[in-house]
Order: sequence, then structure tokens, then C-alpha cells
Amino acid sequence: MSDTVSTTLEDGIAVILLDNPPVNALGHNLREPLFRALEAAKANDEVKAIVIACAGRTFIAGADISEFGKPPKAPSLPDLIGLLESIDKPTVAAIHGTALGGGLELALGCHYRIAERSAKIGLPEVTLGLIPGAGGTVRLPRLVGPEAALGIIVSGKPIGMDEAFSLGAVDRIAEGDLKSEAISFAREKLAEEAPHHHIRERSDKLQIDDAAFETAIEQVARKARGLTAPVKAAESVRNAVTMEFGAALAREREIFLERVASEESAAQRHLFFATREAAKVRGVGRDIEARPVARIGVIGAGTMGGGIAMAFANGGLPVTLLEMNDEALARGLHQIDRNYAGSVKRGSISEDEKTARLARIQGTTSYDALAGCDLVIEAVFEKMDVKRQVFGALDKVLKPGAILATNTSYLDVNEIAAVTSRPQDVVGLHFFSPAHIMKLLEIVRGDRTAPDVLATALALARRIGKVPVVVGVCNGFVGNRMLAARREQNEALLLEGATPAQVDKVFTQFGWPMGPFQMADLSGLDIAWNNRKSLGQTAPIADALCEAGHFGQKSGRGFYLYEDGARIPIPDPDVQALIERKAAELGVERRSIDAEEIIERTLYPMINEGARILEEGIATRASDIDVVWVNGYGFPLAKGGPMFWAERFGPARIVERLEHWHGRTGNALFEPAPLLRQLALTGGGFASLA
Ligand code: 3HC
Ligand code: NAI
Repeated sequence: MSDTVSTTLEDGIAVILLDNPPVNALGHNLREPLFRALEAAKANDEVKAIVIACAGRTFIAGADISEFGKPPKAPSLPDLIGLLESIDKPTVAAIHGTALGGGLELALGCHYRIAERSAKIGLPEVTLGLIPGAGGTVRLPRLVGPEAALGIIVSGKPIGMDEAFSLGAVDRIAEGDLKSEAISFAREKLAEEAPHHHIRERSDKLQIDDAAFETAIEQVARKARGLTAPVKAAESVRNAVTMEFGAALAREREIFLERVASEESAAQRHLFFATREAAKVRGVGRDIEARPVARIGVIGAGTMGGGIAMAFANGGLPVTLLEMNDEALARGLHQIDRNYAGSVKRGSISEDEKTARLARIQGTTSYDALAGCDLVIEAVFEKMDVKRQVFGALDKVLKPGAILATNTSYLDVNEIAAVTSRPQDVVGLHFFSPAHIMKLLEIVRGDRTAPDVLATALALARRIGKVPVVVGVCNGFVGNRMLAARREQNEALLLEGATPAQVDKVFTQFGWPMGPFQMADLSGLDIAWNNRKSLGQTAPIADALCEAGHFGQKSGRGFYLYEDGARIPIPDPDVQALIERKAAELGVERRSIDAEEIIERTLYPMINEGARILEEGIATRASDIDVVWVNGYGFPLAKGGPMFWAERFGPARIVERLEHWHGRTGNALFEPAPLLRQLALTGGGFASLA
């Protein structure tokens, strides 16, 4: 007996119960007593069969991720599964909640698996930059066939019981009490005369269509977008087919250990914990209850309002969508319809699902229709007077306790809240475009925002599958404020001698899905131009391009040329001439610029701004900033976010290079933040601030 493992013997059936809250992760504190319990059950003649079950909310959620990178402690998970496989008595895993990673691998070491209908199983290791390291890539193909196993392993997505059962991954679905059904199942198996086979002894499903399997593996590499783990996982599944069981298992472990030591996995593990930390908010303890939210209101059916309405409708919430007039409303609803039709065409939702989602969105032009809403979010024009007018109107119609939210990108949430008689109910909910797809939600906490409003926003974000980060009020909050620091340098680099293609290439080689100039062309240069004009800002090259009618892909020309409606960016000699002309006009001396300079001048100011954001308390932790950048701006997952990446060099190196560029350019953007200087002096890192 131990704190985490207990065995009870029920008429010849040993039930080994694991209890390691919150998710029964297979840390040393569980592996060691489980090993002993299995040895004891194996040796005890009174034990005829073994059931492994878990207490709490879930079956085993995998290895203990916090142990990776630390010295290993015996017994290892493969040792544990090896012991399980040496037992001749029938062994049954009883699964509820989620059996993930090492949890599923342990279950694959049993002869049989029984699961509750609501359970899920999966091998999410690739999402942590790893591959399954305790036989998952070798046993699962033997159980369900290599093609199905490949899909499960490289996607990292858990599957439900319908699929698991039809694939043969689970032998029985328990409709009643899991533990008693598992015991009855074990008894049934005992009564059967047939021998019990471990998965390692089975090879009937390993026959494959070589060509189709190789094509599937090639596709993995194409879709991996620079990440190594899915490619390595696919390699390991192939080994399961081409190598003998023991050799494939040994090779899997080698690859797993290489992956554990990789920067890519360290970055993704950092993000796993960072995402969960971000949901922990000062002053919003577990005792703060979220307000009930059953109906959402959205104001403005433009780019963002339409996407936000879809995000809520996709999450099952009914939405009332308000526009200024019938025409604008019809336009907005039509766009939503088109977006859903696109999803149906791509096969991501069914026609029925489209109908159900559309039915959840009701259009209106009257504020009275919002009276029953529990939370209303506005996505009208980015102008303070328009926002004030909207909040004034909302204050009049909304019921007490309703939440008033703004999707503003830059404006002062406190100033907006001040228009209402209930500033405690006002919060920023900053979605990212396209709002039904991008995961990030910056929750902007105003000076007076009530804790239960934040708790509601956090719960709602999770309900619709968003990744929330609570931030403070400042111009641009966390993401856009740091982006502004980078954007300024993009133009400066062009003036000083870099080309758009050169800058973009450095970005994609770093791991971004695309460079800043390709991105600008894709989103349309005119939008940012209009925004700059309304704010009295300028960007010499982008402004000149817009004046010349270069609006990006939509006009066939932007920073690049796009021929015949194709989306392939071609370097444009006219743009180059324009850049050189502007440089001459502004008296900027041109020279050759290398990749290192492009990285330092675009990313270091972002990190510097990140340090200021931390200093001012706009973000609570450096890891929150990483969550923002990975989920809202496509910062490469493999690098873990700007602040995590910066730790690789350390604050001292960043300060030294910022000072260098400050000296050369005189630009205040490069003036090291006091916090960075302090960390450089003390030798601390950003993580030490948490
Ligand atoms: N190791 C360590 N801690 C873990 C963990 C794990 N495998 N899984 C979850 N936790 C922790 C979380 O950090 C969180 O801690 P906190 O309360 O201090 O913030 C707590 O458990 C609860 O987690 P969630 O907030 O995520 O709880 P949910 O109920 O929303 O989700 C879950 C539960 C679906 C199990 C989710 O936690 C999850 O997906 N966990 C990770 C699963 C995973 O990736 N497993 C593979 C691990 S790698 C492996 O097994 C290698 C093997 O092949 C050798
Ligand atoms: P948009 O111009 O596409 O849409 C605004 C919509 O609001 C229009 O359809 C307009 O008719 C409607 N509208 C204006 N005033 C209104 C009023 N008083 N009542 C009802 N409807 C009204 O603008 P977009 O891009 O959707 O931006 C909306 C808000 O979202 C802005 O605050 C913007 O800063 C913010 N935002 C924009 C992002 C983007 O990438 N476009 C990203 C994140 C936030």
C-alpha cells in the first residue's frame, strides 16, 4: 500500500487503484508503488486476474511532464509496462476520463481495455515535441493497424469511444459502473478457455499497402511545418512495421530520449505549463464563481464581429448580432454563411452542423433585442466616440449583472468603462483575426473590472476553445504593443538596404509561417494605412505603396507582385526602386544587411517591449507573453515564445545587442528596459520573475 496505489482482492480479481491527483500522471511517486503492486499481484497465487483503475477525474493522463529533463528515476515506464507484459494472468485497464500518452501506453501493456463511453484515448506526445516513449508507436500499430495508428500518433488528438471501439483499441464499453464491469469482464476472460495474448504477440494487423503508407508518411513531413516530432513519430511507426518488436521498441525509446533533450520539446513543454499558468489570475481564486452565461450579444458584423459571433455559435452559444442598418447586417450574415459554406466544402463540418450553427446566430438592428443577453461584446469601428456611444446605449438596455465587453485593439478600456454606470462589469475581450479560428483571447482587465467578471471571461474562453491570457490596460495591450516595436524596424531595414524577400526569408527560416511583408500583402496594406491615417501615423514605404495603389494580394501588387491572381509573391523591381527612392529622400545610407541583424533588430525590440510590459504589470508573467505570441501571432511553437527564446541568450546578451543598435540608430526602441538591465546585472532570467 502507498498513498498513490492500493490493491484490493475481490474473489480472485486484484483491483489496483491509482490515485495521484489531479490527473494520475505517472510520476515516480506512482511508478514505484505500481511496480511493487504488480510484482505482488503477479506472485500471489490467489490473484487470478488484475484490473488497473484510477480514482479521481481521469485515468492516467501520461508521464509526469514536469519530470522530463530531470535525472531519470527507476522504475521507468517501459520497465513498468515490461513487467505488466510478463504477467500471464488476464490484465484489464479500466478507463474513464482520458487515457493519454504513457497512460494509454500502460493500458496497451494490458491484455484488455474497457472504457466508459465518455472516455477518450490518445497519444498527444507530439504536441509536447516528443514521440510516445513507452511503446505507443510500436504497440498501437499492432492493435489497430499502422495507418490508423499513424493518424492518431502524428495528430496527437485523442479519439472517442466510437472510433476506439471500431478500431479495436478498446474491447468493451462500460455502460454502468466501470469498476464492477471491469471485474465482470476480467471474470469472463478467466472463464474463457482461449489463451490471453499480449499486443506484442500479435502481428495480424501489420500487413499494409506499402505505397499508401509511404505516401501517408510523406504527408506528415509536409504538414509538420518545421516541427521534428511528428516526422520522428512517423518514422517510429514505420519501424514498428519493418523491425522486429524488441528492436522497434528500443529504437522508439532512443528517439524519445533524443526528443526529450531537444529545444523543440523544451519549448513545447514550457508552453503546456505556460498555458495553464496563464489561467491563474491574481485576485481570481477558485472561490470566485463565474456568472452564468446563456446568451451572447455581438455588436458590429464586420470582420471581427462576424468571426466572434461564429466563435460563440461554434461553442454552442446562441448569439444576437447587432448592426447599424439592415444592409450592413445582411452583408455580415452573408459573410458568415459563406465562411460556414467554406468549412463544409473543406469537409471540416457537415451541412447539418452548418445549419445548426447558423441557427444560433440571430441578426438585429435594435438594441432592445440585447436585453436578454448575459454578455455583449462590441466590435464596431476603432474610434473612441463610437465605442462610447455604443457603451452608453448598452448601459441603458442590459440587465443588471450582464457583462459589457469591448474587442478594441488599442483603446483605453477604463475610458470606455467610465461611460457606463457599471464599470465593474466592463472588460476587454480582444479576439484575433479570424476570430473563429485564432486561439488567443486577451482578456483586458480594467481598473474596476470585478473578479467574477474575469472568472466569467476565463470560463467562457475555455468553453469556446480559446486560450485566455489576462492583461492590463495600455496601448495595444501585450501582443499589438510588442508588434508595433517590431513593425517599425521592418520598414527601417528596407530603407537601410534589406529587401522584403530577404526579411521574409529570415522570418520563415526562424520558423514563422510567413514573413511580415507577405503577411502585410495577405491582410491588405490599405487597412493598416487607413488605421495610420486615423491615428496620424506614417510608414514611409507602406504609405507610398498604398498611394501607388499597391494594396497587397487583392490588388495584385503590394510589397510583392502577384501574377494572374496567383498567391505567389514575386520580388517587384518597381517596389525596389520605390524603396531606394524613399531612402534617398530621407537621407538613409544603404548597405548590405545580414540575417543576424534582421533577427536582432526585429525580435530584440519585441523582447525589450516585453520586459517593459512585465515591469508595468501589464502581463503577470513572462510565460503569459509567450502564450500570447504563440497563439495570436504564429510565433514558432518550436521556440516557445519570444521570452522563452530570449532566455537562450540571457538578458545580458540582449542588453549588449540592444545597446549596440541603440548606439548605431539612436532609436529609443533599442534603449534597454530597466528590468532587462537589472536581470543582466543579477544574472536572473525572466522565469525567475514568476
Ligand atoms: N504531467 C504533469 N502534470 C500534468 C499532466 C502531466 N502529464 N497533465 C496535466 N497536468 C497538470 C496540469 O499542469 C494542471 O496543473 P495545475 O492545476 O497546477 O495547473 C493539472 O494537471 C490539471 O490539468 P488541466 O488544467 O490541463 O486539466 P484538464 O482537466 O483541463 O485536462 C488533461 C486534463 C486532458 C489530462 C490535460 O491535462 C492534458 O492534456 N494533459 C497532458 C496529457 C499529455 O500530454 N500526456 C502525455 C505526456 S508525455 C508522455 O506520456 C510520454 C510517454 O510517452 C513516455
Ligand atoms: P470592420 O470595419 O470590419 O467592422 C466594424 C463593423 O461595425 C461594421 O460592419 C460596421 O457597420 C459596424 N458598426 C460600426 N458602428 C456601429 C454601431 N454604432 N453599431 C453597430 N454596428 C456598428 O472592423 P473590424 O476589423 O471588424 O474591427 C472591429 C473592432 O475590432 C475594432 O475595434 C478593431 O480595432 C478590433 N479588432 C480588429 C482586428 C482585425 O484584425 N481587424 C483584430 C482585433 C480587434
